[in-house]
Amino acid sequence: MSNVSLKPRLWITRRLSDATLERAVRDYDVVINHDDLPGTAEQLIAASAEFDAIIPCHSEHFSAEVVAQFSDRLKIIANHSVGVDHCNLPALQGRGIAVTNTPDVLSDATAELAMLLMLGAARHAVAGDKIVRTGAWDSWSPAFMVGKQVTGARLGIIGMGRVGRAFATKARGFDMEIHYYNRSQLPADQAKGATYHDRVESLLEVSDFLSLHCPATLDTTNLMNADRFGLLPMGAVIVNTARGVLIDEDAMLAALGTGRIAAAGLDCFQVEPGGNPAFAAHNNIFMLPHIGSATRQTRDAMGFRALDNLDAFFAGKLPGDLL
Ligand code: DGY
Repeated sequence: MSNVSLKPRLWITRRLSDATLERAVRDYDVVINHDDLPGTAEQLIAASAEFDAIIPCHSEHFSAEVVAQFSDRLKIIANHSVGVDHCNLPALQGRGIAVTNTPDVLSDATAELAMLLMLGAARHAVAGDKIVRTGAWDSWSPAFMVGKQVTGARLGIIGMGRVGRAFATKARGFDMEIHYYNRSQLPADQAKGATYHDRVESLLEVSDFLSLHCPATLDTTNLMNADRFGLLPMGAVIVNTARGVLIDEDAMLAALGTGRIAAAGLDCFQVEPGGNPAFAAHNNIFMLPHIGSATRQTRDAMGFRALDNLDAFFAGKLPGDLL
């Protein structure tokens, strides 16, 4: 009897949830990167000759240059992420490599984090925590750390896909007046009373709070630039749980300087990991390290969704999340 495995060979580039890894080990001939460091270009190129499939995260970059050096063995990249800006889709598809992502399952976790960032930015979470934690809290006054009220305020959402809609649902719990910009207007059962803007500019004019939920593409790079910050009402709060490239970070600092924006809540940065060191001096920037989808439940769901896509592919079916 041959001892050659008939299971497809799968490389898992990062430390996924235990339940995901158990299922992967059961169903595939798996190599797991237990070091949990991002896969380098060299590793990705080598993997394309050794594996039929890869489950990467947004930390692995499939640029056109990398993909051009791939061998013909690799058949599918089943991303463990909803965002696929780390994948050059035309290059991968041009090589006949299937690409999938994990939509839906992380919408609530990401929307929860956007809510945390919005509330924390609006109510001085960084400065408040710091003053108590360092023992510097030695007085109180009604004029102390007065923030911006979320309840009843106008919320602008750019990108009313699954995460944007999940955030709108949570914001309705705060009686926010919801406005949105999207490539197309949503049907009434999805808009749920939110006001559609067919131009980003008109949305910004009514956004006391602004939350970004669109993908990173060439069109959305530096979406929030100096001109657009200038259109926000004075003292607006901006939240970004989507991708760092959506915000021109120098323009955002300038807008904080003039008071055009009062605060920002950011889970994403132009440079990741690391973030923008210039932000550290600003207590009105509430920051988290790209953990929007990082709940136990969601990590399992993302891993299982990636495996569902692989299972379908290797069963000769169309993966549910084929891009
Ligand atoms: C996503 O799924 O795109 C999140 O940013 C985590 O990678």
